Formats: sequence, structure tokens, C-alpha cells
Amino acid sequence: MSNCRFLVINGIISQPSSEVPQISSFLETHSGAYTTTRTHNNGTCVMFWERHLHRLAESVRILAESKPDFLFGLENSRVSSSFSSSSLSWESVINPLVNDSLRKVLPVSLKEKSSEEELVITTLVTGNSRNFEREDGKILKDVDVFVHVSVYVPPVFGVRENGAHLAVVGHGRDVARAKFSKWVRIRKNLEKLRPPLATELLLSDDGDQILEGSVTNFFIVSQKDSSNTLEENHFDLKRECPYEVQTAPLADGVLPGIIRQLVIEVCFSRGIPFREVAPQWSKRELWHEAFITNSLRLVQHVETIRVPSSWELLELKTWKEVNWEETCFKEGPGILTSEIQREIMKRADLEGCQVSDFA
Ligand SMILES: *[C@@H]1O[C@H](CO)[C@@H](O)[C@H](O)[C@H]1NC(C)=O
Ligand SMILES: *[C@@H]1O[C@H](CO)[C@@H](O)[C@H](O)[C@H]1NC(C)=O
Repeated sequence: MSNCRFLVINGIISQPSSEVPQISSFLETHSGAYTTTRTHNNGTCVMFWERHLHRLAESVRILAESKPDFLFGLENSRVSSSFSSSSLSWESVINPLVNDSLRKVLPVSLKEKSSEEELVITTLVTGNSRNFEREDGKILKDVDVFVHVSVYVPPVFGVRENGAHLAVVGHGRDVARAKFSKWVRIRKNLEKLRPPLATELLLSDDGDQILEGSVTNFFIVSQKDSSNTLEENHFDLKRECPYEVQTAPLADGVLPGIIRQLVIEVCFSRGIPFREVAPQWSKRELWHEAFITNSLRLVQHVETIRVPSSWELLELKTWKEVNWEETCFKEGPGILTSEIQREIMKRADLEGCQVSDFA
């Protein structure tokens, strides 16, 4: 695997590219809102690009309004009166800059990748100390746009050994609706609770209702709980299906993941029962399948989930001092997980943005 990386700062490719940091170190040292996607089909198509641009602008808007220091860094966060409040107007500022950066960096980075690799594209918007005046006379705080490109070999879906091993370790995120780089630093504090072999950490405020993963959204396929039958819906198909897909609602404090939203859309279009409710560990005897999603792995089936048997003083402990309860899905990806994965791949082809569109 080649370790080529590129960084574009406000449309200028930074040189030398051998000194571009890994994306995690880059995000740790730059405040801002960001989004990460990748190419597929051998670097020809940028996955769900419009959705990513839209969420990026939305993250910028949310941070500008509620957590300016996450966007501008502490030193630049004071002038808050001049923020533009609609994500549409943020899109009009950000998108041309991002487009211009991709137009320059995609051709060079595509030359560096090998056949099985795809490009990972991370776009970070950070506030700076300057202001600028728009055509309508409105003064806005200025932003810098960084595009970081590296290579990645996507895991193959469906291989049993590629299952995720999860451990519930910590509390839900602040301003979870925005995707921001500060979280990359905060989530490091959870590492001391990561059991060996755990591939992703899950967040929960009470050790029962599971919100999301530290870099993924979390779903389970559960047998329908008979105590909920009163709120049953009217579709025959849905009533017949004894299972439903569950994930925590945005209102509980989870990231509006791009793939999370696609899972919901796929469930509706395929008639798969779906309920936006935090999966409850205490109801795990009803769980049949579990999977996590993000824009790099897309859909990954879960093999094991571990949860501390006591939630008390968890933050003071290390993984060794915790007693873990475990549940296991031994069969590889389940039927509904696989169907959802297939449908998302179809949409990736329909909705992706061709790399040639940036030329
Ligand atoms: C992938 O794309 C590169 C050019 O970017 C090409 O040389 C290579 O043959 C392609 N691989 C496959 C498997 O199509
Ligand atoms: C990027 O900008 C160019 C030039 O303005 C435009 O033709 C192209 O459609 C844009 N591409 C995307 C993917 O927005």
C-alpha cells in the first residue's frame, strides 16, 4: 500500500507532499467542521458527494451558532455577530473552494494510487481571523478550506472475519449533530477503556441505550418487542416481518451520518421495518443482527459487543478493571444487513459524483 498523501490549502497543493501528516494527526491540530468520503470503482466516482457537501455546510452553521471555538479555535472565536446563519449561504462560500481544490488534487493523487486502492477525501473548514464583505454588503467571518487526500483499501463486505468488535465505553458527544475535528482529540480519552481486539468504541449515557460509535453509527436488527405492538404500523409487509432495524434518533445526540441516512431511506424503500430508537442492551435477547456504518467502511457487520456490567465510575477505570458482558453474532452478516448493504452500493453508483465532473 502506498502512503501517498496530499493536502490542499485554499486551492494550493502544499509541497512537499511527503510531509503531509496522517489524517488523524491533521484533524487533531486543526479546529473546524469536516467531512470524509472516498472514491469507489477504482477512483472514478466520489461517493455521495453532494450529501457530504451539504452536511459540511450544516456542521459549519451549527458550530458557528453554538460552538464557535470548535470552528475558529479559541483565539479567533470572539466576533460572533458576523456569522452567516443559513447553511445555504455557507454552501455558496465553501463549495466553490472545495470544488477548486478537488479539481487540482484529484488528477495528481489518482496517479499515485494502485488498482485496489481508493482515495479518501477529507474536507475541513476552519475559521480564521479575517472577515470579508460579500456582494450584498454583509460582513462574514472568513474560512479556510483544507482538502486532505490519502489512499485506502476498502474492506470486503460479507467476509465473516471482517466483522467489527465493539465495546461500549463512554458518554454521548456534545453538539453531536455537527462533525468537528475537536472530537478526534476528545475521543482519545476513551482509549484507556478499549479492550484488546475491540475495533470500535460505542457511546452511551447510561450503559443501556446505545447512541453511536466513536466513528460510526450503530444499528441492530431486533425481533419486534411485543410490548410495542400497539404502535404497530399499517403496512402488511411490515406487520409480517418479525424484525425491525433500530438506531438512535438524532435527538438523542448522534451524528447525522451520511450512510445512516441512506440506511433509513433503504429501509423505507424496501419495506424493511425501521424504528428510530436507541438499541437497548437490556433487550439484547431480541437482537438478531448488528452493523455499523460510516463513509469509509459503508456497512460493516458486527461480531461481538461488550458492555461494562457496572456503569459506575467508569471514566476512572481502565479496560482491565471493568467486568464485561458480551453478546456475539457468529454467523457473519445477517440477511437484512446484507440487503441494506447491497442497496447502498446501488445508490453509490447512482448518486456518486464522477471524478471527471471536477475537470
Ligand atoms: C484502475 O485505474 C487505473 C488508472 O487510474 C488503471 O491503470 C487500472 O488498470 C485500473 N484497474 C482496474 C482493475 O480497472
Ligand atoms: C466544479 O466547478 C466547475 C467549474 O465551475 C463546474 O463545471 C463543475 O460542475 C463543478 N463540479 C462539481 C462536482 O460541483
